[in-house]
Amino acid sequence: MPATDDLDTQKRAYATWAKFYDRIYQRLLARPQREAVDAACACGPDILEIGVGTGLTLPYFTPDSRVFGADLSFDMLKVAHRKVAEQKLAHVRGLMVMDACRLGFGPERFDAVTAQFVITLVPDPEQALAEMDRVLKPGGEIIISSRLIDDGGLLAPFWTGLAPLMRRIGWSTDFKVSRLTGWGAATGRYETVHVGRGYFKVVRLRKLASA
Ligand SMILES: C[S@@+](CC[C@H](N)C(=O)[O-])C[C@H]1O[C@@H](n2cnc3c(N)ncnc32)[C@H](O)[C@@H]1O
Repeated sequence: MPATDDLDTQKRAYATWAKFYDRIYQRLLARPQREAVDAACACGPDILEIGVGTGLTLPYFTPDSRVFGADLSFDMLKVAHRKVAEQKLAHVRGLMVMDACRLGFGPERFDAVTAQFVITLVPDPEQALAEMDRVLKPGGEIIISSRLIDDGGLLAPFWTGLAPLMRRIGWSTDFKVSRLTGWGAATGRYETVHVGRGYFKVVRLRKLASA
């Protein structure tokens, strides 16, 4: 999973990844992906999935949901489009090329916004979060799954030390949960309702109904 500040480099990398992404990640990511999708569906039918990629998560949404997927990579989206057609995923209402930091949707459009295995790749995660916030209805949730580390975790220094090396081969190992929960708290509009455990974590931030 390439972590780079250059969006064009990111697009080129995912043009290659698109060919074999599912074979490598389908089973590996299924647990957190399903958990995130279940939480999103519980929020309401209108859901935006940012960094939808090849659409691995799309079959997990309930038939009554109305899902839009956005991704930087046209090549990843091509695989997602094929999946939607082959599996007749009628709940998928649109898949579009879009940067997480500049979403082409109006304010308060969605009941939930999910971002799975993408936030650590975005050069400005806080800007992406601000965009998720803009398009999310009050009472809705931002649901993020990724490789995230706990601040106080015993292995945190190890993962932080390893980060520069791992970044060279395109992996992010040092993105902290507190970067997400801290952002939510700083807005004054979000409460953290869930922080998962394990190597891949799901974090859920709920926008206050009165926000
Ligand atoms: C590791 S893949 C995850 C795909 C999918 N969410 C999943 O869980 O299988 C990361 C995806 O995020 C996309 N991506 C990276 N940076 C992005 C950005 N700034 N805006 C939108 N999508 C982005 C990549 O093109 C790629 O499809």
